[in-house]
Amino acid sequence: MKNKNFAAVYPGSFDPPTNGHIDIITRASHLFPRVIVAVTQNHNKNHMFSLKERVGLLKESVKRLPNVKVVSFEGLLADYLSKINSFVLIRGLRAISDFEYEFQLALMNRNLNKKIETVFLMPDQAYTFLSSSMVKEIAALGGKTKDFVPPCVEKKLNSNKKRG
Ligand code: COA
Repeated sequence: MKNKNFAAVYPGSFDPPTNGHIDIITRASHLFPRVIVAVTQNHNKNHMFSLKERVGLLKESVKRLPNVKVVSFEGLLADYLSKINSFVLIRGLRAISDFEYEFQLALMNRNLNKKIETVFLMPDQAYTFLSSSMVKEIAALGGKTKDFVPPCVEKKLNSNKKRG
C-alpha cells in the first residue's frame, strides 16, 4: 500500500446490517489501513430502518475495529469517492448469483470514474445464504434472528416487532 493512510470504501444499504456484512468489514479491516463503511439509500428498495438508524447499528457493530469508520452519503457513489479521494471499493460476493449485478455495478462505477477499482471479498461460508431481506422476513414472522445479525440489530428488530 503506497499511502499508509489509504482508505477503502465498503458501500451498501445495510438494511439491516447482518453478520455477513460484519464479516466482510472485519476482513477488509485486516487488509487495508482504513475502511470507510458508506451507508446510503438504495432507491430500488423500501428500507425498514432510516439512514440514521442503519449508521447507528453499524457503528455499534464495528466499534471493536479501530480502523473502521461508518458514514452516510447521498447521490452517486462515484461522486462520493471523488469527494473523499478514495478509489477502492469493497463488495462482498456470496455466490455466483451475486456476480452479474456486482460485475455491472463495478463496471458502471469505473465508467463514471476511471480511477475506481472494485475488490471482491468472500464472506465466511456460514454467511453465503444470508441477506438483509431474509432477516427482515424472519423477524416479521416471529422467527429468531440471533444467529444472523449483531446483538444490537437483533434488539432493534425485536423492538420493531413489538411496536408493529
Ligand atoms: N452478507 C450478507 N448479506 C449480504 C452480503 C454479505 N456479505 N453482501 C451483500 N449482502 C446482501 C445484502 O444483505 C442485501 O440484501 P437485500 O437485497 O436482501 O437487501 C444485498 O446483498 C445487497 O445489499 P448491499 O450490499 O447493502 O447493497 P445494495 O445493493 O443495497 O446497494 C449500492 C448497493 C449502495 C452500492 C448502490 O446502490 C449504490 O452505489 N448506490 C448509490 C447510487 C449510485 O451510485 N448508483 C449507481 C451505481 S452504478
